[in-house]
Amino acid sequence: MALALHGKRELCGNLVAVVMGSAGVERLFFGEFFRCEPFALVKAEGLRILTETWDLCGFKRVFACSGGYLREEAAACGDAFVYSLSGSARGVRVEGSIAPSYWSREQLAEAARLSGFRAEIPDPCTVVAHSEGFYLAVKLSAPARLEVGEAEVRFEVSGPLTIAAAGARSSSAALNLAEEALGDPLALSGRRAEWLSGALARAPPPPARERKVRELWRYCWYVLLSNQCSVDHPVLRKPFTMPSKYVFRHQWLWDSAFHAIALSAYDVELAKEELLNLFHAQKPDGRIPHEIFLSKAMCRAFWSLDDYSPRTTQPPVLAVAVERILERRFDEEFAKLAYESLAKYDRWFSERRDADRDGLAAYIDYLESGWDDSVRWDGAREKFVLDPSRYRTAYPEARMAPVEAVDLNCLLYLQRLLLSKLAPRFGGSAEAWRRLAEATAAKVRELMWDERSGFFYDVYEEDHSKVPVKTPAAFLTMFAGIAERDQAERLVEHLYSDFWTTFPLPTVSRDDPKYDPKGYWRGRSWINLVWFTYCGLVKYGFASAARELAAKVVELMAEGPTCSENYDSSTGKPLGASDFGWSTLILDVIADAANRGWI
Ligand code: GLC
Repeated sequence: MALALHGKRELCGNLVAVVMGSAGVERLFFGEFFRCEPFALVKAEGLRILTETWDLCGFKRVFACSGGYLREEAAACGDAFVYSLSGSARGVRVEGSIAPSYWSREQLAEAARLSGFRAEIPDPCTVVAHSEGFYLAVKLSAPARLEVGEAEVRFEVSGPLTIAAAGARSSSAALNLAEEALGDPLALSGRRAEWLSGALARAPPPPARERKVRELWRYCWYVLLSNQCSVDHPVLRKPFTMPSKYVFRHQWLWDSAFHAIALSAYDVELAKEELLNLFHAQKPDGRIPHEIFLSKAMCRAFWSLDDYSPRTTQPPVLAVAVERILERRFDEEFAKLAYESLAKYDRWFSERRDADRDGLAAYIDYLESGWDDSVRWDGAREKFVLDPSRYRTAYPEARMAPVEAVDLNCLLYLQRLLLSKLAPRFGGSAEAWRRLAEATAAKVRELMWDERSGFFYDVYEEDHSKVPVKTPAAFLTMFAGIAERDQAERLVEHLYSDFWTTFPLPTVSRDDPKYDPKGYWRGRSWINLVWFTYCGLVKYGFASAARELAAKVVELMAEGPTCSENYDSSTGKPLGASDFGWSTLILDVIADAANRGWI
């Protein structure tokens, strides 16, 4: 399956990921160990791009400059990257840097300290850097001027030349890989093209006839498969999918659940594997962690914790993924692992996230909700700032007033239903899980529904007052099958009035004073919410709404095509990280819609 994308500048291997700039390599990442920015900035008089292509082999460009021409080629495969400039142009200089990972440039020194960054210069053509047990070797085909600082190594070199970078757990392995890439750049792009075209050939064929939709389909499979990675790591023992190799370079809980759902149409074994690190990382108290970092330094920098994971969890979508996998192919051993793990996880929600013991769990940290900056949490965060101790008694790690969130409890309802289905096989009580599930659903209907406005809202745990913010989280009541028929009808009215923007569904109603079509979780549109809502509409038989939602979103994603983290809800422009894993849920929407003859 060939793939040639217009204007695409990102390129990745296993842990290596690069973003090409308008002249050279703007950023190079090695998982969460290194972030070199710029990695190779090309400086030449009157540099002009003449041609630019991206395909499965890599990235190629021709520049005109200083009265001559330069051919630029970049390829990545596995943990190696090679960049070369050839041609007749004179007076070309290349500048670059080798640095540890950091969140923002101001934190570079702190990142170097936390990760124990250091660098060696065995000769003027070679740098070997070390960051938290991982090595990055950079080899140049010509001697460079090297400047070694506390937190990074800067180099300057004259071109044309070739630069190879490779990462590994030992310095000698990294050096060997870099040497090999430098010696045979074509082998790297060849291997990459062979691997990707083989992997893409195994993807299901595009179910749609329209050319644009078929291209989107292929591109989404590329995103999902190329975001996979494996690393020699104490917790990330199995291969998994990064949400985006250019921005989010470790494993997240709900992202992986979404990846597994999309992957299950490709290879059920891969889909199962996607969840294994999370089950294995489950804490003794039953919590499945929010994320598993590649580097402890990054976890320390972000959460001030000496661990690979923070103290939080994320929306419990795992059960939805497990159910999808088991429907595709039942596997006793996997079902047992999932049952035991999810049963413990569910008890953790009852014990640690339901202080008022009403069967509705609460989010106590905005990041735990997955909807990081949402308007949903503004009130809860304000309450918390006014009186933290009030909330810390029940939840020592709280960072907002606890909110019994509608989507959280819809997902727990589904988790409890799945547990009730699996319980008889594995010695549990189907009846007990079913009762708990039904109690949760009844509470959602009793406490979260507002008859006057015809919508479901989050409620504060302390007094069950409603959080007056309308969001598409309410549509999960259809996904879960909790909404009554007449409630669902009123939700569909809201779908068309409050959430029917150019790119549906904004993360907050467009009549909300805080609606910002570009705001992160404050008005941008996300594909996971489109997926939940599409499935919910189908479940309740709202065929035309489901079809229109799918058509609108597919049409906009196919422009490009793009598979971005989120979209400006008022213009449809892609925003956030590119090549974003869970946006490939659109594959599931396309497959279902095509099956119904809608696409
Ligand atoms: C952002 C999102 C969160 C997601 C993570 C990785 O933090 O808000 O929901 O899990 O990125 O994609």
